[in-house]
Amino acid sequence: VTSFASNDYLGLSIHPEVRAAAHDALDRWGAGAGSSRLIVGDRPIHADLEDDIAAWRDTEAALVFPTGFQTNLGVLTTFATEARIVSDELNHASIIDGARLAKAEVAVYRHGDLEHADRLVSGGPGRVVVVSDTVFSMDGDVADVTGLAEMCARAQALLVLDDAHAVFGEGGLVAGDAACLRVGTLSKTLGSQGGYVAGPRSWMELLINRARSFIFTTGLSPAAAAAARAALSVCRSSEGDRRRARLRRHIDTVRPGHGTPIIPVVLGDEAAAVDAADRLLRHGILVPAIRPPTVPAGTSRLRVSLSAAHSEADVKRLVEALELLG
Ligand SMILES: Cc1ncc(COP(=O)(O)O)c(C=O)c1O
Repeated sequence: VTSFASNDYLGLSIHPEVRAAAHDALDRWGAGAGSSRLIVGDRPIHADLEDDIAAWRDTEAALVFPTGFQTNLGVLTTFATEARIVSDELNHASIIDGARLAKAEVAVYRHGDLEHADRLVSGGPGRVVVVSDTVFSMDGDVADVTGLAEMCARAQALLVLDDAHAVFGEGGLVAGDAACLRVGTLSKTLGSQGGYVAGPRSWMELLINRARSFIFTTGLSPAAAAAARAALSVCRSSEGDRRRARLRRHIDTVRPGHGTPIIPVVLGDEAAAVDAADRLLRHGILVPAIRPPTVPAGTSRLRVSLSAAHSEADVKRLVEALELLG
């Protein structure tokens, strides 16, 4: 079967240079980091990767964690304790859990509704942290990053953006006065494993000293770090541009004008979604049904995700199979 379910949007997990970098790191440093980064789990590849991420995100510094999930936990428990977190209702589970762990007051705004968010931001004393996915993982829509940044600058709130599913640089870089942290993952567009946060150097130093999900966990494996670094280099090259252009063509074939490679086909009922997934599978197309609690009840769906690794023929077969669903 052909999978249309992974988050390997640029197909970099199988790129020859990415694999070779992982092999070299494995031969040089062994399978695991051996301990937390602060004990003896640090390798030069971690700092090299962090420097490259900071250059890519145009920030002073960056810090990598073993997963994106842990990155959100670390960022929110460090920067949002005793703050009010203003959070989009469709934010990822790792943001929800980070907010819980931070023991913050959490105010949830209706999905993408910045007027609602603005009311919550101004609704009381104390520090405010606004947090949003840039690309929403189950809907494939994009947050209004400029609007969020302007709101945060006005209210002197910290903006935390989770770029986990960004592949085309959605949202861009935040210009102007907003204090901003960019969280992301190495496990989707970069095809490896791990998470990162990018921002001012002193904030990274605070995380190194405070974030329990960084301090009390084994460092990212050197092979995963090396793979992510090689993938980032491809991503920022003309080959990366070609891969994004190819992915854009695939998206336009399936849903013209849609902004991201995540294409939801909402069917409502859980049974209908499972039935549709079964029918696609009989045509050799793997698109698992997404049901509650991943999405709200009554919005069960097929979550189609496209990759530059798909061929034109693969995408054509997908479109034909989707048409047969009626
Ligand atoms: C928006 C968002 N943030 C964070 C994560 C967690 O990333 P990771 O898989 O690297 O733990 C995910 C992954 O599912 C995600 O969709």
